[in-house]
Amino acid sequence: MSTSPCATTIIGTGHFVPEKVLTNADLEKIVDTTDEWIVSRTGISERRIAADDEPTSHLATEAAKNAIENAGITAEDLDLIIVATVTPDTFFPATACYVQAKLGATNAVAFDISAACSGFLFALQTARHFINTGNRKTILIIGAEKLSSMVNWEDRNTCVLFGDGAGAAILQHRPLNEIQKTPTPTVLASVMGTNGALTDILRVKGGGSACPVTPENADDKLNTISMQGREVYKKAVTAMCQASEEAIEKAGLTAEDIKVVIPHQANIRIIEAIIDRLGLPRERAFVNVAKYGNTSAASIPIALDEACRSGVIKSGDHVLLVAFGAGLTWAATVVRW
Ligand code: ACO
Repeated sequence: MSTSPCATTIIGTGHFVPEKVLTNADLEKIVDTTDEWIVSRTGISERRIAADDEPTSHLATEAAKNAIENAGITAEDLDLIIVATVTPDTFFPATACYVQAKLGATNAVAFDISAACSGFLFALQTARHFINTGNRKTILIIGAEKLSSMVNWEDRNTCVLFGDGAGAAILQHRPLNEIQKTPTPTVLASVMGTNGALTDILRVKGGGSACPVTPENADDKLNTISMQGREVYKKAVTAMCQASEEAIEKAGLTAEDIKVVIPHQANIRIIEAIIDRLGLPRERAFVNVAKYGNTSAASIPIALDEACRSGVIKSGDHVLLVAFGAGLTWAATVVRW
């Protein structure tokens, strides 16, 4: 590996969503809700639901294959795989290990990261450290979720919000002089943060060691998502704005330099509030929440891949990725495409 100054580049992206579409009209038959309420409060029209035989590792592997092909490498080229998820196939082994086996990525080390909706950017930042220290060269990062497996389908406050899917990116070590000759999407700056004092406003309370699900409490649905929506909304807007501003400044840029914003796709109102506060025109945000709902760690890489493939992101553009999730966690990354 070269010892000249290097940077972390993004050499490929990919995504995968399951075939089954669950529309707002379908939800009207399950809980007391309306398409009008869901669209006006969240911007979501439909979401994808994985089949029983499609665990998170399946979604992750399909997204990874897509990214590997896009990058023009093989699975054997990977030396690290990081999967960000809160819906792992099993508590252990890590979902990343199942993905490694499914891909045949025999030269890689594999582990998971748990940072809820910020997971993909936490994975990106972790991978970047491995690359910038010269420890690893080619890294697959994936955000993948089967949230339908932990939704309470009787709770209209939450079940309308979430969907399943996966997105992936291939990061690679590149010497700076090579990037100057052949421009390649390059990570310029990243910030991340957590606030563990607010774990209770968004969580799955049961099913872990603190509160195992037992025959006695099985009816309480403790292993499903519970959320104080308004609190989450307020914290999300504040933290995502602050993280965006810090990352932009760290990259030596101003908000006006950002051509495309890829925000976590939780809710159109959160996205618009952030864009407005950054003083940017709303068209700068790439939004696909209407099609997929909130796919947690998968939402940013799915949106990133769609934005790349549809030509929304062009070579030379400064792109801001920004996330917020349970923990609380937040993160922002600036990439020069
Ligand atoms: N259909 C119809 N009515 C509903 C529904 C529904 N699906 N869900 C809630 N309501 C009702 C409530 O029961 C309440 O009725 P009440 O006044 O009779 O008690 C009323 O709508 C208002 O409820 P609020 O929770 O105050 O509605 P709000 O305007 O805050 O919107 C929402 C709720 C969409 C969840 C909003 O708070 C929000 O977007 N929060 C952010 C949370 C989020 O996006 N979380 C995702 C995970 S975290 C992340 O990814 C960042």
